[in-house]
Amino acid sequence: MPTFQPVRGMRDLLAEDAEAMTFVMGKARETAQLYGYSEVITPVIEPYELLSAKSGEEIRSRMFTFKDLGNRTVALRPEFTSSIARLASTSLKNEPKPLRTFSVGSVYRYDEPQRGRYREFYQADFELMGTSNPEADAEMILLTDRLMKTVGLRNYAFKLGHIGVIRGILSQENVEEKTQNAILQRMDKKEFDEAFKLVKSEECLSTLRGSLELKSDDVFETAEKIKSHVEGYCKAVDSAEELKNILKLVTEGGCQVQSVEPVFARGLEYYTGLIFEVYIPELGIALGGGGRYDKLIELFGGEPTPATGVAHGLDRIVLAMQMQKCAPMMECARKVFVVPVNESMKGEALRISQILREEGISAELEVMGRKMNKALENADRRKLDYAVIVGERELKQGAVVVRDLAKRDQTVVEIAKLAKIIKA
Ligand code: HAM
Repeated sequence: MPTFQPVRGMRDLLAEDAEAMTFVMGKARETAQLYGYSEVITPVIEPYELLSAKSGEEIRSRMFTFKDLGNRTVALRPEFTSSIARLASTSLKNEPKPLRTFSVGSVYRYDEPQRGRYREFYQADFELMGTSNPEADAEMILLTDRLMKTVGLRNYAFKLGHIGVIRGILSQENVEEKTQNAILQRMDKKEFDEAFKLVKSEECLSTLRGSLELKSDDVFETAEKIKSHVEGYCKAVDSAEELKNILKLVTEGGCQVQSVEPVFARGLEYYTGLIFEVYIPELGIALGGGGRYDKLIELFGGEPTPATGVAHGLDRIVLAMQMQKCAPMMECARKVFVVPVNESMKGEALRISQILREEGISAELEVMGRKMNKALENADRRKLDYAVIVGERELKQGAVVVRDLAKRDQTVVEIAKLAKIIKA
């Protein structure tokens, strides 16, 4: 047989990478708990029709789609929102509102693999359903801010926009929804000239072109400029006003928004209101993004249920933490290697390992039967912190030898004080 490698775009996460991913997942789960989001676990495989309904051309064309043995057309989820909207229109439909859900796991898109872009990646997803109030949109940004902070990221920046501004203009100009989607897809890729080619009305074109020039350093000023620029397009004006309200709430909530984009679109087609993304300057791709989708649950047969949400790209957050050398990554728990000096000490070594674990200390037992120097060499190579050497002489005094593997010095420590000393 040949040797095998993972399929292109798929990765094995080993040791430190797996640890970093688990760390970020833990922080996302902690955030969910702090904000009152209940975890739900949905299948990786869903009906193609569900996932493709409003995902947009870009994601639709990149889905891993196949027929199962029962001849059903299914796909690997490219995101969580459709699955959660399915839940909200079925099993959770009678739950009191608002509904706050949290999900974490792998998602799949046939993207071109490069740094921070994989075909299997991990998301933490937060959805808040049952209200169209702006404080719900603000909550998405605030919880994203909190997650970025708790993993130790600095200099991250929020970019906000409102899909209702562009859609408001296009709808009033009678541009049909399919063409609107095509225009927004191109805008998402910053292919503005291509997008504008699809617009027929001169007035509409000049409003859209003019929007590109509206940005100023002050986000409130940009929002105000958008509002006056789209005068005459009433839905666009309402959207700009809503954007201002959300911006105000986010700021009052203690989070700073760095930019408001007058012409901002995101790949997914279900958005109806505020949209946003978060970045760090070192990485030109978003660490997370989300927005309001008021029609999706209804589309899946549920009651009309306004909703908003966000998903964080956990692989990219790990990458960003590595680039910024974030402190929490360095704060690894101490790791101890427990080595019996000979055959007769194995039982004692097992007992002492248990004592350490009960105190929350990670203890690995030497199970290879190696000689002491070989065992210590191995512990060194794997960057463990301490070796606890279990020998007859010290045991008679109720003690063990503790060797600091970095400093290469050792002392005799009473077993009763062992955990305390290692933690200190
Ligand atoms: P999204 O912007 O498509 O939104 O994805 C969210 C995040 O997933 C991105 O900001 C990025 O960090 C990460 N991501 C996307 N593609 C890749 C990739 N190929 N490799 C690594 N990371 C990637 C959604 O998925 C929406 N469901 C968010 C949402 C929730 N909107 C409302 N509720």
